[in-house]
Amino acid sequence: MTWQADIITLFPELFPGPLGISLTGRALEKGLWACTAHDLRPHGKGRHHAVDDTPYGGGAGMVMRPDVVASALDALPGDGRPVIYPTPRGRPFSQRDAKRLAAGSGVVILCGRYEGVDERVLEARGVEQFSIGDFVLSGGEIPACALLEACVRLLPGVMGSSDSATEESFENGLLEYPHYTKPAEWEGLSIPSVLLSGNHRDIAAWRHDQSQRITQSKRPDLWAQYASRKPGI
Ligand code: ADE
Repeated sequence: MTWQADIITLFPELFPGPLGISLTGRALEKGLWACTAHDLRPHGKGRHHAVDDTPYGGGAGMVMRPDVVASALDALPGDGRPVIYPTPRGRPFSQRDAKRLAAGSGVVILCGRYEGVDERVLEARGVEQFSIGDFVLSGGEIPACALLEACVRLLPGVMGSSDSATEESFENGLLEYPHYTKPAEWEGLSIPSVLLSGNHRDIAAWRHDQSQRITQSKRPDLWAQYASRKPGI
């Protein structure tokens, strides 16, 4: 069955964008997933199809109207797919979320612009809010691409066995170990000698140790979670 992504946006021409090339692009051609971008503008109000209005309570910027957003959401088949709204105010999006979404039949993504979307429609339509990091972008389209790529690469048949996901960062709660390739010496820099030893057990132990060190120094939050699950660390 094709994993279906429907995206509601004021800029439908941005899709599939970067997802149309390489791994996700080939998967799109093979019909492993489908991507349909829906223009929000025709759902707008009045002669100018306004999609936003000034915020109650005052303040800067404009807010996307709940009736306009609901009209776009309700025009899609109500087939139980999760509806996602990327926003810096959302829960941090994680590999676990990507796995859960990839295991379903697809997603609907609502891309905001301006100051955001009226809270009532998010609650009334059970919309899940996700952030892709603690920084602010001008709209949800780039986060939508990031979220979709994270899901699509996990769909059955998308990644070959050579680029399997089992050794990736986050798979075991740790960041991945560093990688090296030829030449063995470059600008006077050599590679860790264990990688030339041919001893697979030593290599695995070195990689695991590197994963732990890197996670501990770069992501103390992940390290604390990992260590709490492994008494003795
Ligand atoms: N929209 C704007 N900034 C965002 C972010 N950091 N994550 C998700 N959606 C956003």
